Amino acid sequence: MQISFVAPADVTAKSGAKDGGALVVGATEGGVLLPAAVRADKACSGALTRALKFSRFTGKAGQMLEVLAPSGLAVSRLLLAGLGKAEAVDEKGLETLAAQIAGRLYGAGETAASIEIDVPKNAKVKKGELAAHLAFGAKLKSYAFDKYRTRNLDEYEKKLKTVRIVTPDVAAAKKAHVGLAAVAEGIFFARDLVNEPPNVLYPAEFARRAKAQLSKLGVKVEILGEAEMKKQGFGALLGVGQGSDRESQLVVMQWNGGPSSKKKQGGKPFALVGKGVCFDSGGLSIKVGAGMQGMKGDMAGAACVVGTLMALATRKARVNVVGVVGLVENMPDGGAFRPDDVLTSLSGQTIEVLNTDAEGRLVLADALTYTQRRFQPKGLIDLATLTGAIVATLGSEHAGIFSNDDELVRRVQAVGRFTGERVWQLPLDPFYDKMIRSKIADMKNIGGANSGAITAAQFLQRFIEKDTVWAHLDIAGVAWQDGEQKPTVPSWGTGWGVRLLNKLMKEHYEG
Ligand code: BES
Ligand code: MN
Ligand code: ZN
Repeated sequence: MQISFVAPADVTAKSGAKDGGALVVGATEGGVLLPAAVRADKACSGALTRALKFSRFTGKAGQMLEVLAPSGLAVSRLLLAGLGKAEAVDEKGLETLAAQIAGRLYGAGETAASIEIDVPKNAKVKKGELAAHLAFGAKLKSYAFDKYRTRNLDEYEKKLKTVRIVTPDVAAAKKAHVGLAAVAEGIFFARDLVNEPPNVLYPAEFARRAKAQLSKLGVKVEILGEAEMKKQGFGALLGVGQGSDRESQLVVMQWNGGPSSKKKQGGKPFALVGKGVCFDSGGLSIKVGAGMQGMKGDMAGAACVVGTLMALATRKARVNVVGVVGLVENMPDGGAFRPDDVLTSLSGQTIEVLNTDAEGRLVLADALTYTQRRFQPKGLIDLATLTGAIVATLGSEHAGIFSNDDELVRRVQAVGRFTGERVWQLPLDPFYDKMIRSKIADMKNIGGANSGAITAAQFLQRFIEKDTVWAHLDIAGVAWQDGEQKPTVPSWGTGWGVRLLNKLMKEHYEG
């Protein structure tokens, strides 16, 4: 999708009959037409106001009213979009609206459109921001993963290729859009990684793609293979991968856009750690058929980390961030780790494996230790599709957050409310920690029958070193979805978290 920002004067010329296209204008609740809508209505001798009389359109957010081929206006259709209450218009709402508009125009088979929506009186957004977030919402809707389709391509094609956002402040819109376009890149990359089938995207291929995409943006990327990890003592991560024909990998990505770490204490990076189980069969504690479907997406935490680094590097964020992802395939062969095995983690702590399907925490344990020992990060967030229990608890509306630092939780919650990636805090407590005591080792990798998301977080906390400010996000319910529940989010890989982490860095850690 080609997105441009144009001044109002240009639009009449450009939306002339020769390239056709739709004109989209706005109204607020109560059916109050915004100035561009009034002008369009006049140009077609009141066709819009006449249509309003025969419709249920009241200007509620997301409502649409369409007039086809209005005489007097050189457009294929005039689409009136509802913004809702003027005071409630915000960035997230505008993104959703633009996605709904794009979705509608896809359905109509339009190839080009101009969106001319004014900032309503009393709205909290500025002109440039309104335009930029409309562009971002339309862009997010343009995502498709059709590379494996070979038939009926026409049916799937999204024909809307040209979107012009009409704004009186083109310069401000372009400026605000630069960062958002970078975020869209990161989200799309993360979605692609989650959507790729596991026969194509195994650990080494994930690592290769991360390196190929990120190193050209100036990110330093290192890949550790099994020999190196064995030498260093990654016993937990390697234990998970040992039943697979695919080699386990650790990818370390450094974006140093902030102050040099040598000069100032402030130069210490923020760390993002991701679970990258490229396929989770459950291992010898094998999953049932229905539970195994979709487990190609068990690397969504890692995809989010890579996508966030892409966004940060693309917009040259003035921040130091290190991303570490542990990549494995959890498979059951003759060499696989077993229930009852005891693994020695990189931290030196021993783990009695009682269920090989509780593998994500084992991968993360070593990735967490490695990250803290090498980088002493000033903050650390891990992301993982860690438990079915979090899906049962929070569904797809919130990710679970567990943390040793209330300020970090508050920040993530605030940013998530803004981007629409909401998080809900669940407790850590010594009581739950007792549930992972082992009869023979330092801990076991499963808790009891209940509170599974919490005991998983307790397990991770045992690998958090004193003084590390840490939060764990269990994203099992939000990383992928069947069908489209939100206009800006496609079916399957959602790219959840890229926007949130990008914004968290921007608001709180960027110089
Ligand atoms: N990858 C799964 C968690 C998961 C489940 C993600 C459903 C997305 C959707 C994880 O590795 C797993 O299998 N967890 C087990 C842990 C249990 C054995 C203690 C679970 O949640 O059932
Ligand atoms: Mn599992
Ligand atoms: Zn898993």
